[in-house]
Amino acid sequence: MNTVRKSASRHAQHYRDLVKAYGSPLLVLDPVTVRTQYRELKRALPEVAFFYAVKSLPFTGILRCLADMGSNFDLASSGEVRLMQTLKISARRTIHTHPIKHDDDIRTALRFGCTTFVVDNTDELLKFRPYRRRVGLLVRLCFRSPAAVVDLSRKFGCSAAEAGKLLSLAAGLGIHVKGLCFHVGSQCRDAHRQVEAIDACHTLIRQHHATGAAPISMLDIGGGFPIAYDGAEVDLNAYCAPIRDALARLPVHVRVIAEPGRIISGPAMTSITTVIGKARRDGMNWYYLDDGVYGAFSGQIYDQVRYPLEVFSDAPGRFPSVLAGPTCDSIDIIAEGVGLPELQIGDMVAGHMMGAYTAASATDFNLRPKAKIVVLDRGTEWARTAGRRPLYGVNHPRLAMPGRHPRRKTAGR
Ligand SMILES: Cc1ncc(COP(=O)(O)O)c(C=O)c1O
Repeated sequence: MNTVRKSASRHAQHYRDLVKAYGSPLLVLDPVTVRTQYRELKRALPEVAFFYAVKSLPFTGILRCLADMGSNFDLASSGEVRLMQTLKISARRTIHTHPIKHDDDIRTALRFGCTTFVVDNTDELLKFRPYRRRVGLLVRLCFRSPAAVVDLSRKFGCSAAEAGKLLSLAAGLGIHVKGLCFHVGSQCRDAHRQVEAIDACHTLIRQHHATGAAPISMLDIGGGFPIAYDGAEVDLNAYCAPIRDALARLPVHVRVIAEPGRIISGPAMTSITTVIGKARRDGMNWYYLDDGVYGAFSGQIYDQVRYPLEVFSDAPGRFPSVLAGPTCDSIDIIAEGVGLPELQIGDMVAGHMMGAYTAASATDFNLRPKAKIVVLDRGTEWARTAGRRPLYGVNHPRLAMPGRHPRRKTAGR
């Protein structure tokens, strides 16, 4: 169930100004939060090199911001490779971690200069025979994780025994395997899943070294770091403490990397939607918004999370209500049976923590345009749209750039 905060209507003024300038629905990216999340993670795991999981929010605004912070990038498709090329991000800062790839995906990544790939079975390993002199592979292990919202090991990863066989086969074929990797599942609230996985990989690394084979020099601990959708705060430093201890036990020559997505992009984006219609059905107030589960709220279906919502009203009371999306489909419901004050057509509804797996999986079903993404840098009080051309300050004191045009039309973007 989504949590719904009720705020005074004056608190919606900021959102109203943005909608006036850029239209509705909107997704507002806050680079200050991106930078804070990245720094916090770095502080919590200082010895780990981060490769931002582009899939969580493959948007230029966040990628540029992270590139400036020194982040590396985790790619999973040729489309993501092309995005790196467009942004002129060095291939040396990228890894390709999709365990199942078409040969064309491998060649596209190699042409770009990305040489680290992931395999979890023999068929996938054999795809690298033609490129054996040019790649360094990571073998992905499976660690099922009922504690995670999305248990990625259901679909990918091999057992420790199979990993051992893959390492031997690769050595026989002359394919360089530089490391091991895993993903304990996305939005994993139990850090001990990470610890168990690190310890299991540690054992495998020791056993492998004992055979006299070329040493395993890298461990990729994936993503999965959780964020607080339900308001229950996640203390990232405390969460990472047992992970730090487990990593400290690894041999010193093992370089540790991670592929965080949600923890960086999730808290950094807010959805702004507008009530476009109302109805009364089965004793409930229905409010139809201009975005829904086919759009930015798609994460409620695919990613199985419920975003914290905020409504703005000075009216007293709360009544059983439904917040529905704009499409013709009845699955397009964001929240059902929630207590809301009486809303009016034109009122704003905000969705918080909506950066990860939202815009990334939004569709244009019914040929409705997807929410426009606006970058709102509180540091510079400056707004840009998703395109490369800057938009000038909107007509609001909190957003206006000194000496800039007070407002320009956004048409054509
Ligand atoms: C291979 C891989 N790496 C990293 C991530 C990012 O995970 P998270 O957003 O949970 O940090 C995912 C998510 O699906 C993934 O599949």
